[in-house]
Amino acid sequence: MSYPTTRMRRLRGSETLRRLVRETRLSRDDLVLPLFVVEGSGVREPVASMPGVFRHSVDLLVAEVKRVRDAGISAVLLFGIPEAKDARGSGADAAGGIVQRAVESIKAAEPDLCVMTDVCLCGYTDHGHCGVVADGDVDNDPSVERLAAIALSHARAGADIVAPSDMMDGRVAAIRAALDAHDFSSIAILSYAAKFASAYYGPFREAAESAPKFGDRRGYQLDPPNRREALREMRLDLEEGADALMVKPALPYLDLLADARREFALPLAAYQVSGEYSMIKAAAERGWIDGDRAMDESLIAVKRAGADWIVSYAAVEVAGRLKP
Ligand code: PBG
Ligand code: ZN
Repeated sequence: MSYPTTRMRRLRGSETLRRLVRETRLSRDDLVLPLFVVEGSGVREPVASMPGVFRHSVDLLVAEVKRVRDAGISAVLLFGIPEAKDARGSGADAAGGIVQRAVESIKAAEPDLCVMTDVCLCGYTDHGHCGVVADGDVDNDPSVERLAAIALSHARAGADIVAPSDMMDGRVAAIRAALDAHDFSSIAILSYAAKFASAYYGPFREAAESAPKFGDRRGYQLDPPNRREALREMRLDLEEGADALMVKPALPYLDLLADARREFALPLAAYQVSGEYSMIKAAAERGWIDGDRAMDESLIAVKRAGADWIVSYAAVEVAGRLKP
């Protein structure tokens, strides 16, 4: 049956009809807000390249988290910015480290909030790489040991989900083993399984002070043209015991989200990264696009492609626009 009997416009004529036939909906429950925590007290400093994003000290982060909760967001992803860095990223798994203290304080104030932590070394190493370096290259197996120790320290602090973002081989299995060996078998792993060597991380590296001091991350993050390889990474992480898989960045990699949705039964997360966020904010500031609509459209596209969880710096503002 086709035109004139079939008229696709029939069910688009009013907002009521459009709501009735809407196939995908964004919910507050889908959204995860990344948060940056810095040393000091009374700190709430804006990130210049990410309008609307701040770096908080632990005391103010707790207040921020209340606001996040009031907006209906029930999950956050924490990134720590330590005061001191060294070659092995000692601050990353320190018992009194910045993220560990932040997790403890947040959990004390908001026990029902799901606290995810980014597990990586780049923010803590003086060279800015996601692992330990030997002979000018990131050395996989010693890095994996460090990552397992970091994940364990986050679990000890009270994290609900640990999220390794380093892209070392074998880290999910090592983290699972470390957690299980220390009575943290109930702590879940969200693996940044398909993480690409992307230009879209630029603003984040300013916020997290995590840019590599030499070279780049192409020796461990995925090459953007590679789809089969990304699916292999996801399959491996699943087999190593990941509880959920992430694709990152989000919008440029919707094909992978759709592929992963068909292939895997695990919860899938997508990370709308800093560059994706900042591009929309920058264009909106210039009056070139309607920033609110572009942001909402981006997130619904990510959901439509198959994401269950969407990590976004816009989580709170988008939540505020969602219809009840
Ligand atoms: C570090 C890490 C990065 C992001 C999350 N964890 C950047 C990188 O690989 O340099 C990117 C987040 C963003 O751009 O918003 N492992
Ligand atoms: Zn890293």
